[in-house]
Order: sequence, then structure tokens, then C-alpha cells
Amino acid sequence: MKVLITGASSGIGRQLALDYASDGHQVTVCGRNNDALSEVKSQYPDKITCSAFDITDKNSTKDAVTKVGNVDIAILCAGLCEYLDVKDFDAGMFERVFKVNVFGTMNCIEALLPQFNHSAHLVIVDSLARLLPFTKAEAYGGSKAAMHYIARSLEVDLKPKGIKVQTVSPGFVKTPMTDANDFEMPMRVDVEFASQAIINGIKKNKRDIAFPWLFSTLLKLMSILPESIQVKLSEQMARKQSK
Ligand SMILES: NC(=O)c1ccc[n+]([C@@H]2O[C@H](COP(=O)([O-])OP(=O)(O)OC[C@H]3O[C@@H](n4cnc5c(N)ncnc54)[C@H](OP(=O)(O)O)[C@@H]3O)[C@@H](O)[C@H]2O)c1
Repeated sequence: MKVLITGASSGIGRQLALDYASDGHQVTVCGRNNDALSEVKSQYPDKITCSAFDITDKNSTKDAVTKVGNVDIAILCAGLCEYLDVKDFDAGMFERVFKVNVFGTMNCIEALLPQFNHSAHLVIVDSLARLLPFTKAEAYGGSKAAMHYIARSLEVDLKPKGIKVQTVSPGFVKTPMTDANDFEMPMRVDVEFASQAIINGIKKNKRDIAFPWLFSTLLKLMSILPESIQVKLSEQMARKQSK
């Protein structure tokens, strides 16, 4: 199969690329960092092709994706996480985060739609942060909630074209993104676990691939509580983090 992965220069996307390549698939790895992409390619030179572009640049994205040709599985994993310091409210931070996570992902989808083979999988990586009002996560969680909503609507609209839309909602995964966090990350898993959960979920046509199971189940249960209780629980977490 032909697999395209954005955000494949590090973290979850990189591991997915290595795992798909080791399974014999042809993989296009995307990101901005050419050296990092070349390092991924060096591990499976016959299976992996590099495509360096910035997903926030619509024209570069279109050109690069068109060059890839037909695609069976596209995993849109590129993402940016920044946390809000409410004492120094920065609207620009919302713009930076939404530009990559929401608008960059939409640039990829626009470029990919004409390239999809029949029964292709469009896989959008959001986050379990989409479920609850976590402290400091206004921009990141908001962007991931937007991505999830868009994905579910696309699931309806792309079904007649035979395109299967799947979302991935990870809990904490050890990557350069979470290495920057200075708070406790319960039930954090490694990239190998995350990659296998995603690959198995795609294979099984799961609509929402959420993991690890216990963490995602707890958050999903919390998300159906009344909002006032969700906010109280979030306040407790914020107090714990600030200690
Ligand atoms: N780690 C977690 O705990 C966790 C939890 C939930 C969801 N997620 C989501 O999983 C995805 C992967 O995260 P990760 O933890 O693996 O993070 P990561 O190691 O920081 O990887 C982020 C990737 O996104 C790419 N990227 C960022 N901005 C880009 C841009 N403008 N154009 C093209 N590529 C861009 C980066 O590549 P370049 O720097 O080469 O451009 C990099 O490959 C993200 O969407 C993240 O929100 C992660």
C-alpha cells in the first residue's frame, strides 16, 4: 500500500513510518526538517521517500502531495502544541497553533482528495485533550476539538466517495512534544505502543482510535458529566499541577 504521513520527522509520525516500511509498504514521510526526514529514509531506503514542505503553505503542500501520486492511507500527524499563560494572554499563540493543526491539516486534505485511491483511509490525529477543558490547553485543545468535529463531518461527506475518515485521539505519548512538558503525564506510553495502536486501528477500520484504553475510557466518562463538574475536576488538576 502507499502511505503518506505528515509529521513523520519525529515522534509518533516517525515511528509510524518505520513500522509501515518494515511491513513492506511504500511510505512518503513529510515534515519541514529535511535532515530528520533523511534519517528516517536511511533506515528503509527502498521503502521510504522524503517530501519536505510546510503544511501551512497551501501551494507547497499541493505541489508536494501531487508529486506523491496515488495514496491508500494518509495519516495527518503534523501538529504544534503551545500552552497558554493566562497572565500574559497571547492571541498570536492561538493563531500559530490553529494555523498548523487546523488550517495546515485542511491544506493537506485539499491536496490529498484528488490523489486518494478507492477505499482510501484519511486518518486525522487529534488528541484526548479535545474532550475536556484542561488548564492552559485553550489553544491546543481547542484546535484538536475543531479537528475532531471536522473529521466527523468529513466522515459523512466523504463516505459516498469511498473514503474512510478515521480519527486518532492519543493520551500522553513520549515524544519531543511531551518532553517539553513540566507536569505529570499519567499513563504516558512510548511511540512504539502508539504506532501499533494506530496501525491496528486503521486496519480494523475503527472510527476513533483512542489510547491507552484506561486513560481514554476515564476521560470519555468524564466528558459526559455535566460541564460544571468537568470544570471542577479541571480546577483540581490545575491546582495539583501548580504545586
Ligand atoms: N505526544 C503526545 O502525547 C500527543 C498526544 C496527543 C496528540 N498528539 C498529536 O500527535 C501528533 C504528533 O505529535 P508528536 O508528539 O509526535 O510531536 P512531535 O514529535 O513534536 O512531532 C510533530 C511533527 O509535526 C511536524 N510539523 C510541525 N509543524 C509543521 C508544519 N508547519 N509543517 C509540516 N510539518 C510540521 C514536525 O515536523 P518538522 O519539524 O520537520 O516540520 C514533526 O514531525 C501531533 O498532531 C500531536 O498534537 C500527541
